[in-house]
Amino acid sequence: MPIPDFSHRSFSYYPTKAIVVAKCIGGVWTEPELTSDFELSLHCFSGVFHYAPECFEGAKAFMGVDGRVRFFRPEENARRMSRSAAYLDMPAPSEELFVSMCIQCIQANWEHIPPYESGASLYLRPVLFGNNPQLGINSSKDVMFVVMCSGVGTYSGAEILSTGTAVISRNYDRAATFGSGAYKIGANYAQSLHAYNLAHGQGYRELLFLDTATHTHIEEFGSSNFFAIKGDTYITPDSSSILPSITNASLRTVAESLGLKVEMRPIAVEELATFDEVGSCGTAVVITPLSRIDDKPTLEGKEVSRSYHFSEKCGPVSHKLFDRIIGIQRGLEEDTWNWCHIIEKP
Ligand SMILES: Cc1ncc(COP(=O)(O)O)c(C=O)c1O
Repeated sequence: MPIPDFSHRSFSYYPTKAIVVAKCIGGVWTEPELTSDFELSLHCFSGVFHYAPECFEGAKAFMGVDGRVRFFRPEENARRMSRSAAYLDMPAPSEELFVSMCIQCIQANWEHIPPYESGASLYLRPVLFGNNPQLGINSSKDVMFVVMCSGVGTYSGAEILSTGTAVISRNYDRAATFGSGAYKIGANYAQSLHAYNLAHGQGYRELLFLDTATHTHIEEFGSSNFFAIKGDTYITPDSSSILPSITNASLRTVAESLGLKVEMRPIAVEELATFDEVGSCGTAVVITPLSRIDDKPTLEGKEVSRSYHFSEKCGPVSHKLFDRIIGIQRGLEEDTWNWCHIIEKP
């Protein structure tokens, strides 16, 4: 395989060398298999094709300034996958199996880890889905767990910390109040694809979903959590129907360590007018600052009922938070909270 070109990468699939696959059959896990065959063989009656018993994760490994590879908080991803699988009533890999398969995947794809200077990283995508043949509406009893990876750049392909715009989704919901929004299951994303296409088609980088019961409060973006800075306070929504973001949790810890107050509480849409900085946060986007959020009655229409404006440049507090978290991930700053696993070169 030729040496990969790491320049100008976006958040996309770039071919790598190997994936790691394990199955749980009748409650017993097989030994993980490392393979360069990226084609999976599946029974066409597998539950995943019918009722979407599927959940996944996203984690990142970074080549550090010191040439050491750091894998960021994979136990949190393992625990979240376990919660997603429990919601779908299907087996999940243990935390130990999850983390060890991810490490195996990183080591097997060592030459695909983007170099420090590229600013890119190795994105791990663990996927768990039901694969026993079935017809009736049942949870899957057997599952396949696949860990794959791709060396990725920034989410939008734009420069790090460049601002983007977002639009509020008023006529498409993401996750119902008592629904599955807190779990990382593919079905949540399927619901957002059409609305996303409409937003992207109009040049918006992000789509902001509201609470489905009243459409008065901010939930999260389609790809990431919402945060705002108001004076010396970091504010992020408290809702049982948004994904508990590992990045957001880390940012809250970092924010407190920088002397900021942290508020997790319902955020009314109109409060946007009072914020100094707003952004999206997540593994894939890290932090994307927003310069404008448009409120439109419908995503299809041209009418904008209100626009909320922010700086065209990343705000100083978002910048500080970004520097600290990226600093830890890339070995530039002390890993105060022991978030990173150092991965040995195979
Ligand atoms: C809908 C949604 N919210 C939030 C996040 C952020 O979660 P995390 O920081 O764990 O990646 C993601 C994924 O990155 C997401 O897809």
